[in-house]
Amino acid sequence: MLLEPPHAQVGFSDALQSQICNDLETQGWSQQDFSLPDELIITLAAECRQMSVDGTLKSAGIGRAEGQVLRQDIRGDQIAWLKAGQSIACDRYLQIMESVRQMLNRTLYLGLEEYESHFAMYSPGAYYLKHLDRFRDDDCRIVSAVIYLNPDWQPEQGGALRLHLDENHMEDITPLGGRLVLFMSADMPHEVLPATHDRISLAGWFRRRV
Ligand code: OGA
Ligand code: MN
Repeated sequence: MLLEPPHAQVGFSDALQSQICNDLETQGWSQQDFSLPDELIITLAAECRQMSVDGTLKSAGIGRAEGQVLRQDIRGDQIAWLKAGQSIACDRYLQIMESVRQMLNRTLYLGLEEYESHFAMYSPGAYYLKHLDRFRDDDCRIVSAVIYLNPDWQPEQGGALRLHLDENHMEDITPLGGRLVLFMSADMPHEVLPATHDRISLAGWFRRRV
């Protein structure tokens, strides 16, 4: 019989895990800094930049499957979906997110079965207008997770993730390297504001199966 590795070996401390679950339960979102080791952030950022140079990143569409359309007036990032085994750094990231998935299931009973993720690069001026991460005809995405790969990012450089918490409140989160933001995909309208520099991240979604 295969035993699942204890979650403490990869990923987050117990204290951090319960904070994430508590935040998601009480406010629908959570921000954690220093989520991944610095050298992993730097390696992942370099891999994303290389994909930009070699043309692997492609303009992201909106909508799903055959219904996808390019609308850079709505969404201006360039993305590449992650595949298991594509690099040691990507596998380490996926392993950490797997430990988060197990933790969310243990604590919040979310029944999350899969994780899908892509690199994203927003060139200066690119943005993503206010949206939900759940498609009208697909309610599989349950929790969204974004990890930023921009060491030393300054708030004046823009590129905030703006969470619309309710009609009157929003929260702007600077896309600083190592910062992890999680939120409930169905309930949290959000947008990406334009930046003055390339803004890179790994965005992902914990899903139930179709
Ligand atoms: C997305 C998204 C947020 C971010 O890719 O759907 O909202 O901060 N990303 O990059
Ligand atoms: Mn989104």
